[in-house]
Amino acid sequence: MEIHAYLEDLRRQVDEQLDRLLPSAEAFPPRIHEAMRYSLFAGGKRLRPILCLESSKLFGADPHVVLPRASALEMIHTYSLIHDDLPALDNDDLRRGKPTCHRAFGEAMAILAGDALLTFAFETLSSPGPPAAEVKTRVAYELAQAIGTRDGMVGGQVVDLESSQNKTDAPRLRYIHSSKTGALIRMALRAGALYAGAPEEDVARVSDVGAKAGLAFQIADDLLDEEASTDQLGKTAGKDKEQHKATYPALYGVADSRRRAQELVAEACQALQRYGERAQRLQELAHVLVERSS
Ligand code: IPE
Ligand code: IPE
Ligand code: MG
Ligand code: MG
Ligand code: MG
Repeated sequence: MEIHAYLEDLRRQVDEQLDRLLPSAEAFPPRIHEAMRYSLFAGGKRLRPILCLESSKLFGADPHVVLPRASALEMIHTYSLIHDDLPALDNDDLRRGKPTCHRAFGEAMAILAGDALLTFAFETLSSPGPPAAEVKTRVAYELAQAIGTRDGMVGGQVVDLESSQNKTDAPRLRYIHSSKTGALIRMALRAGALYAGAPEEDVARVSDVGAKAGLAFQIADDLLDEEASTDQLGKTAGKDKEQHKATYPALYGVADSRRRAQELVAEACQALQRYGERAQRLQELAHVLVERSS
């Protein structure tokens, strides 16, 4: 199957799983559940759960066991987008082709919807059922670190905010991108390997692949902000320049940024070579992460 059709099928599986997991929009108190569902089902490529699933398949896991846990990564990602869009952060009006959560539900409910998705993710990760309790605990522990303040997503967002308007040097820019975006993508691959019970050296190897692919993914996001249209992205194009954000194209220019992203993907694919044909989908996915148009 061609990679885009393959991804579309997985995206649908993740959507169905999320719909089964999330409280219904009518559950009391309904407004928060509406807001959570609004942002979660506004669209989205579902790349983090898909990366987790593919990594788990590489080491022979049962996809039915992994799918609900992998879907929790999308809850976390969507929480991060809702908060990223808030007036106090990037102040965005459009996300996934629709008004942002705070535009549709008000700022207070958007803050709470983000909080609720983050909380519900950990409920989903630790709920009863396979895999083994030690594995679930380890994933929850490592994931909490990946989205926390020490080289994790929140840490990256903090330095991103502090870097607006200021001249950013190369190590700081790398820190921002690797932390705000790379850390969760790295963890998605890592969690897949952990769910599959892969040996530690494989867990470490796919983590490195994820770190490279995750950094490349944020470079591609910066490039799209500069080069794609609002219609294409479903979020306001050209915002990074307007807000003087620290981005790869701002520091290195468009051509050099694209080259860096491609190099990272090539290195990620190279590290997967040792798995032969089994890693084909992950390698294709790594390319999709930077060659995408939205
Ligand atoms: C956008 O992520 C925000 C970043 C971390 C770069 P995605 O490009 O994965 O957004 P969705 O989930 O498809 O909307
Ligand atoms: C967002 O980076 C990273 C997180 C949400 C953690 P951006 O601010 O560049 O993401 P977009 O461009 O708004 O999707
Ligand atoms: Mg941001
Ligand atoms: Mg933003
Ligand atoms: Mg961006």
